[in-house]
Amino acid sequence: MSHQSDLIAEDIQAYLKAQEEKSMLRFITCGSVDDGKSTLIGRLLYDSKMIFEDQLASLESDSKKMGTQGQEIDFALLVDGLAAEREQGITIDVAYRFFSTDKRKFIVADTPGHEQYTRNMATGASTADLAILLIDARKGILTQTRRHSFIASLLGIKNIVLAVNKIDLVDYSESVVRTIEAGYREFAKDFGFRTIEAIPMSALKGDNIITKSDRTPWYTGPALMHHLETIPVGDARQAAPFRMPVQWVNRPNLDFRGFSGTIASGTIKVGDKIKALPNAQESTIKSIVTYDGELDEAVAGEAVTLTLTDEIDISRGDVIAGKDSPPEAADQFEAKIIWMSADAMLPGRPYLFKTANKMVPGSVTDLKHKVNVNTLEHTAAKKLDLNEIGICNISLDSRIAFDPYGTNRDMGSFIIIDRITNTTVGVGMIDFALRRASNIHWQAMDVNKQARADMKRQKPAILWFTGFSGSGKSTIANIVEKRLFARHRHTYVLDGDNVRHGLNQDLGFTDCDRVENIRRVGEVAKLMVDAGLMVMTSFISPFRAERRMVADLMEDGEFIEVFVDTPIETCAERDPKGLYKKAKAGEIKNFTGYDSPYEAPENAHIHLKTGEKSAEECADQIIDYLEENGYLTSNGFMGGEGI
Ligand code: ADX
Repeated sequence: MSHQSDLIAEDIQAYLKAQEEKSMLRFITCGSVDDGKSTLIGRLLYDSKMIFEDQLASLESDSKKMGTQGQEIDFALLVDGLAAEREQGITIDVAYRFFSTDKRKFIVADTPGHEQYTRNMATGASTADLAILLIDARKGILTQTRRHSFIASLLGIKNIVLAVNKIDLVDYSESVVRTIEAGYREFAKDFGFRTIEAIPMSALKGDNIITKSDRTPWYTGPALMHHLETIPVGDARQAAPFRMPVQWVNRPNLDFRGFSGTIASGTIKVGDKIKALPNAQESTIKSIVTYDGELDEAVAGEAVTLTLTDEIDISRGDVIAGKDSPPEAADQFEAKIIWMSADAMLPGRPYLFKTANKMVPGSVTDLKHKVNVNTLEHTAAKKLDLNEIGICNISLDSRIAFDPYGTNRDMGSFIIIDRITNTTVGVGMIDFALRRASNIHWQAMDVNKQARADMKRQKPAILWFTGFSGSGKSTIANIVEKRLFARHRHTYVLDGDNVRHGLNQDLGFTDCDRVENIRRVGEVAKLMVDAGLMVMTSFISPFRAERRMVADLMEDGEFIEVFVDTPIETCAERDPKGLYKKAKAGEIKNFTGYDSPYEAPENAHIHLKTGEKSAEECADQIIDYLEENGYLTSNGFMGGEGI
């Protein structure tokens, strides 16, 4: 490898030590292919000499072969993933590159400029200290510059370099740069950036990249590399209050109990008083243990194991903080969400929220508005699609310790995970806790579910029918109810068409409305089970996520999924309400099986193949299931005294 430091050859140990002690700057580059982004990164890598000799040789030969820059080196060819970019004319993913100079180490995230890559930019920006916004001096500030600035500010980047590139193509004009700079400062004044440095440059010719150019004598600021090498970074995390999310509880034997994790912010010393969140227990640091022995003090970024003077109950995912400046603990927040999945974010749908080491189920209770990334306008919305940004209220199943994202990025961010596919579908930044529901407690009644069920001498449960419209759900539920009724069971049927006349008359058939429909019905069915009833619900309930949400609301054995498996062709032939005919003619929209999906159950408790059986036989199958599983024991399942 060729590197500007001669230390490598002379004293490799000293070189490695110097590398270790150097500070690190993480930055992202934003701009489109045409702005010269790849050329700029290529030049930074090339001039820092952090490239392999063989790479250099092939760069020179590739440059000549491609002939994009005559006999000169085309720095853009240095950048990984470039084959795809050359072919498609776009950069398609976040590429992280590492380089260093004698003063500092750098990690650069190269993010694509197009709007459909908002999620990639967010990924790259979430750890960056600085963003370089590439601007073509001939074009000035474009929509994409505004978009990139907004996302950078959303993700807490505090330092901006306005790289006014291609200055050679505007005759190194001062007024062009000043106009662009003034316009940008005005636009970005509310974004919370600490520094904005406008640097006129030509990535192609090298002006003001590594050294100051004598072709811009009017420019008094630093060359880009000097700015990157000297801008202060990293101190903020150490200056912030102490936070360490517990990654695991280290208990090798009865004599040792330590809490391991990476310090997210601040410093900690032996003897410091701490508070563990969310349970707010206090203790004192007894020792700070690392692989290399014990420390008196540790700082942000270090991986340590802390032992305490008291036995307090701390588990994985809890946060150890300084006693006097602890984070908040809450289960309801307002947060900004960037959606990263092709499947829309639907309020009410259950997701997993992963914060610093903790994974908690929850849902978006309210999408307050979306933000148009290009115009920054707020618009009302019912869902968030891929790459959209929304301000949301979030409700989690349990409390977590957090800081607002604006004050601590590690403690204020979360990712959202789809419960069925286990993939990351969004990222979020917490603004503040909502206190609304914290003063509402579940009211315990003396006459409880058990007592009500005992009196009815039955085991309450939900028979959750799912299947296409016209599959026979209501018909079969009706027969089952009659049979149960004949056995003196206490029952109720919640039927889609009926509930949509009253409780859910405000809901239609969009994905969002169906989620809300099932959420409400699930809650009502749960109350009915609490009342001791055997409940039958007859809803298409097309999505696995919501059926699972209802299952999760219930106790073991209380949710029985009944898949009414009737092929859509058969339903369309029967067409009891004439809806299939209308759907085919395009007269009704979002019709399940046509232009709205149905996700069949994979492990239904009861699978009714209606093509092989009559409705009566299907009802028999359900009654058999209930008998076999102890729902219909004559003495009453719940241990009553017998009839
Ligand atoms: S669900 O998808 O939200 O579970 P639900 O079972 O409540 O649907 O309502 C479905 C019933 O509404 C159907 O049986 C049908 O009678 C009627 N309906 C009207 N329009 C539609 C539509 N676009 N898609 C499905 N069902 C519809």
